[in-house]
Formats: sequence, C-alpha cells, structure tokens
Amino acid sequence: MAATKESDSLDEQFYKPADAFFRAYSHIGLTYDDVTLATLYSEVLPKDTQLGATLAEGLSLNIPVISSDMDTVTESRMAIAMALNGALGLIHYNMPEREQLSEVSRVKNHVHGLIQEPIRATPDQLIGDMLSLIEKKRFAFSTFPVVDGQGKLMGLLPSHVVKHRYANSKVAEALTPRAQVHTLNKKDLGHDPIATADRFFTDHPGIHKLLVVDDQDRLAGLFTMSDIERIIQERNAQFKPARDSSFRLLCGAAVSATRNAFGELDRQRILAHVGGLVERGMDVVAVSTAHGHSRGVGDTVRMLREAFPKLPIIAGNVTSAAGVEFLAGCGANAVKVGQGPGSICTTRIVAGVGIPQLTALYLAEKAARKMHVSIIADGGITKSGDIVKALTLANAVMCGGLFAGCPEAPGEVIEISGKLYKRYRGMGSLPAMKAGSAARYGHTADPTSKVAPEGVEALKEVSGSVDRVLAQLIGGIQSGMGYLGAANLSQLREKARFIRVSPAGQREAAPHDVVELKTGN
Ligand code: XMP
Repeated sequence: MAATKESDSLDEQFYKPADAFFRAYSHIGLTYDDVTLATLYSEVLPKDTQLGATLAEGLSLNIPVISSDMDTVTESRMAIAMALNGALGLIHYNMPEREQLSEVSRVKNHVHGLIQEPIRATPDQLIGDMLSLIEKKRFAFSTFPVVDGQGKLMGLLPSHVVKHRYANSKVAEALTPRAQVHTLNKKDLGHDPIATADRFFTDHPGIHKLLVVDDQDRLAGLFTMSDIERIIQERNAQFKPARDSSFRLLCGAAVSATRNAFGELDRQRILAHVGGLVERGMDVVAVSTAHGHSRGVGDTVRMLREAFPKLPIIAGNVTSAAGVEFLAGCGANAVKVGQGPGSICTTRIVAGVGIPQLTALYLAEKAARKMHVSIIADGGITKSGDIVKALTLANAVMCGGLFAGCPEAPGEVIEISGKLYKRYRGMGSLPAMKAGSAARYGHTADPTSKVAPEGVEALKEVSGSVDRVLAQLIGGIQSGMGYLGAANLSQLREKARFIRVSPAGQREAAPHDVVELKTGN
C-alpha cells in the first residue's frame, strides 16, 4: 500500500533525488560506499525486472555490463562469453593490430556450441604427453581429435584410453580410426547448428562428441553433447545473447590515439586499422585513454566520426561535465567515466588526480543528458550493489577486476601456497605500457624514457566462469531494482533516492560480529 502524504514528505527530507543530494555534497567527492539507496514502495518482483540498455543507435545490450579493454581481461574468449550473456566485451589493444583484427573475427564468427579450435593430438605423440598436457592446463576433458600435419582428421583419441597405464603407447596405436568416427561437413551445419547437433546426438545413442570437418576432411570443430544440452536449457533464459542484425555476437574493440614518430596523431594508421575492424564486423570502437578531455582524443573521435558516420563510438575517460560535453561534441555516442577508481589504478596516488566515482558520474550524467549521449561507469566496481548505485546515473558499467579471475580471461592459472590465482595488471603498469598501452597514458613505449606508472600488477583469486559471475551480479542488480520498485533501468534512474552513509553505517552494511562461513557463493 502507498504511504500517506505526511510520511512521504518526511522521507523526502532525508532521502534525496540525485540533483538535491549531490548538489548538497558539492564540496566532497563521493563514491559507492559513501551512499546507500532508500527502499521505495514496490510492485516489482526482482525476476521481472528488465536490464536492457541502448548505448547508441545500433548498440543495445541485454545486460548493461562491459568487460574492460585490458590485456588481462578481454580477448575473444571473454568477449564471446560476455556477448552470450547479453553483455559486451571490448578487445584490448596491447597486441599487434593484425592480431586484434583476428580476435574480433573470432567473436563475430563464433558459432555457439561449436568448439572451433579443439585441442588436438597428433598420431606420433605419446598418451603420456596428453596426460601431462591435461595436468598442466587443468583440462576437464580427456578426449582429443587426432590430426596430421595438415590438420586432416586421422581419428579420435577417446577418454577411456587416456590413462596412465597406456602412457608409453603412441596416440596412433590407441585412437579410434577416422572411418569409425562420426563427422559432419561444415557446410551441413545449417542455419541452426545447435539443432543440427542436437538431432545428431539423439539419433546416435552413446555418442557424445561430434567432429566437424571441411571439404578436405580437415578438422573444423567439435560439438559435445553436454554443451548442446546446456545451451538448449539456456535458450529459455531471461537474458538473451547480445547479437547484431545478422545474428552474430556483438563485439567491441579499443584503440588509442596513436602518434607517429613526429608526435602527431597517426591518422592514416588509426583510420586503416579501424577500417579493418569494421570490415570484420566490429560493432563499436572505444577510443580508450586515461585523459579523454584532451586534444588528441578529441581529434581521434572527430576523425573516426567523419570516416565512419554510423559506427558507435565510445570515448574516454573523463570525470567532468565539460569532458562529456567535449567528447559528445566530437562525435562520441557513449563516454567512459572514471579516473583512478579501478582496483589496479594508482593515478590518484601518482598524479594526485581523479574524482571519486559517484560524484564524477553525477556531473557526467548532467552533461550526457543535455548532449543525448550515454555514459559508462568505468572502474571501482567490486560488488553488485555498486552496479545498482552506478546505474542510477550511468547507462552501463565497465568492470575489469570482477572478470580477471574467470577462466575466460587471458593468462594462465598460477598456484601459490595451494591457492589458485590469475595475473591482473593495470594498463598503466610498466609491463603493460611496454606491451603497447603507453599511448593511453600519453607516453611513448620507449623503455628508456622516464615514465611514472599509473597502475600496478596484481593477482586475482581464480573465480567461477563468466556465466557464474554475471549470474551473481545480475541477481544483485535485479534485487536492488525490486527494492526501488523499478521495472527497468530508466525507472531506476528516475526513482533512486540517496543518503550519505557514516563510517559506522559502512561497517553495519557488511557482515559484522560473526565468523563468516564460506558457502561457495
Ligand atoms: P576495476 O576496478 O574494474 O577497474 O578493476 C578497471 C578499470 O580501470 C582502468 N584502468 C586503469 N586505471 N591505471 C589507472 O589509473 C591503470 O593502470 C589502469 N588500467 C586500467 C580502466 O578504466 C579499467 O576499465
């Protein structure tokens, strides 16, 4: 039941809408933990809330989350997992340009359910070699297609022979020969490859792997029955994959404002590379730098807008209304907001610059509304509650640390004292800048030049898959929206009421005075 006028106006004195709240705190920079959101009368169940967000014409996500363009976060595997969940990945640029083109192609050509580059064995390897590989890479499977030097299918090494007792046998002696292996020609996959594979498994009881070959009988992929079953179950999921108009997964890529040997913007190189990315189907380009309110970034955005009038452009990073207005004026559709909030960032310590994230988002949102562009809250998000708070002002969030421990992030798992970790480093850390990201921070990649790193190298504990991490985050976002009676993200922005939290209030917000049990959540 809705409340009386009197109690409504009492609440209004304490729980303020964004304008009244942030203007009252114009003398202090606030971030996620500094505020909390008031609950409101609700007729909305969390499970019924909609999380769709349009960031630009032609760029709509089913969940408003983007994985950071960092070399320890987003390559094609991460971007595929994000898009399959309705989100977006931005491929980083710390790699040769040719490789970034291939990474985008991998996402755009991804056939869900088909493992396009299965781990293979060759006939002259020993079964012991395969066992070592499984152990080293921590594979959860032990069936391998066997190919010759030209990639031609020779057979299948079934899991029941990949055992220590056969370690000294050659793969050639133990494989199921080509003639007995079920395959499908790539061109017979049809419009719905999942349905084709599903029919195959139904028609062939006991067969759990289906190999795909090309006209020359070269291995082109592998379906497993368990993947297909999971995908069919997930088809009823609330949040559908993020796809383009040709049903391909969405994919973004980042570029920097690269300079030539004379210190001028390398226009030809940037235009040629972005042209290549567009040809491969890239859905959005991000001009990603530490200081977006600058001439070089503005010129880059203007040049790309002119050359690619319809291409959605993300640009950043900024933390002021003027910064958003500038980039929007140059032609950006979405502006990244965040300077120094990231878990691996040291910009505020090294340069003494940057604004706590919620205050920055408030100012950015004011300008974004005026300029009809979107904003993306980039960095500093450590829990789903932060995302709910960010989405009261921003159209989407960008996260690095939350995904860096997932198996889909680049890099190997490292074991230290029995615990498993993955490397996570700032793009402004010295090794990342040497690997290519120096331009993002306005430096050259010359290792002899004196530069102050603005990021650290770190470890993240290995986490569950992107599916699992996102499921937890989405659950939290939907829960927050239910508390505010917000059925969708624009209602969340409209309804949000803020109050400042004291240090004691912050302590009260987390589990306290208990010994917490690890429940695997
Ligand atoms: P989280 O908190 O999600 O932050 O781990 C990821 C975001 O941090 C930014 N980033 C950096 N900022 N120095 C910085 O000041 C760095 O070395 C650095 N590397 C990444 C970036 O915006 C990313 O999305």
